[in-house]
This record gives sequence, structure tokens and C-alpha cells, in this order.
Amino acid sequence: MAKKTKQSKILPIFILNGPNLNLLGHREPEVYGYTTLAEIEAMCARQAKGHNLSIVFRQSNREGEIVDHLQEARTAGCAVIINPAGYGHTSVAILDSIQALKIPVIEVHLSNIHKREPFRNRSYVSKGATGIIMGLGAQGYLRAVDAVAEILSSKSRSK
Ligand code: DQA
Repeated sequence: MAKKTKQSKILPIFILNGPNLNLLGHREPEVYGYTTLAEIEAMCARQAKGHNLSIVFRQSNREGEIVDHLQEARTAGCAVIINPAGYGHTSVAILDSIQALKIPVIEVHLSNIHKREPFRNRSYVSKGATGIIMGLGAQGYLRAVDAVAEILSSKSRSK
């Protein structure tokens, strides 16, 4: 019983998605796959539940709004999973917000950005990420949820 009370106090994983990811399933499916963002959200919620975790799932086409969500995660989240989409390649502001976090951050890309155009090969977000998962399509989000669960449980074991 005491265990349950403790578990229910774990803050949610913030899963943040950048611009154009609202079009997943329709936008360049040969690159990004046919799974929609709503389907990814449902898959992540299920995966997190299997680890006794919960999620907050957001998408924004606006850089400043993603900064706001990252700032919210500072106090309201146990970890961040972020697919910064195009902003990963351009945004120092998003990197700054990530570097202000004291919780694990997993960067996810559906495609392998190193196999693509040179301008996609660099990610500012990677500089602040705990780990990076790319090229696994929608499955990458699930592996990121698993990674967060493992990081959190190894942290709590070492306490
Ligand atoms: C992406 C890769 C980015 O280069 C691109 O701008 C995206 C999606 C991916 O998930 O593969 O929008 O982050």
C-alpha cells in the first residue's frame, strides 16, 4: 500500500514535439512513417503505464511555446523526451532551456538525421541531451520511455 502512494507521486514524463510533427502520418511518410502523432501519444502512454509512469504529451509549431513547456517540466516533470524537429538544427533557445533542466532529457528523431541533408546532421539539442535515439521511427519514442524508466529506477536504487 505504501509503495502505491509513493509511485503515484512520481511526476509525469514530458514528451515534447516540435514543428510539423502534428502532420505525422501524412507528411513525407516515406521518411517519417505512417503513424500519426495521436497514435504515438497513445503508444507512449501505454508504454509509460507499463513502467508505472505517466506522460504529458505536447506538440507546438512555435519555438517560444516549446521553451515554455521545457520550463514547466523543470518543476512538473520527472524527465523530458523531446523531438525538436526542425528547431533541433537551429535553436539555441531550446538548448538553453534544456541545459537549465536537472532531469534526464532524451532527444528523439524518427529519421536518422546523420543519413540526411548536411544541414540536418547537427543538432543543438544533442549538446544538452542525456541520450539520443534516432532512425527507429515511432518505435524510438517507446525506447525513449524505456530509457527514462531505466534511468529513474537506477537513480532510485542508488539512493
Ligand atoms: C525530425 C528530423 C528533422 O530534421 C525534421 O526537421 C523533422 C523531424 C525527425 O523526427 O526525424 O521535422 O526531427
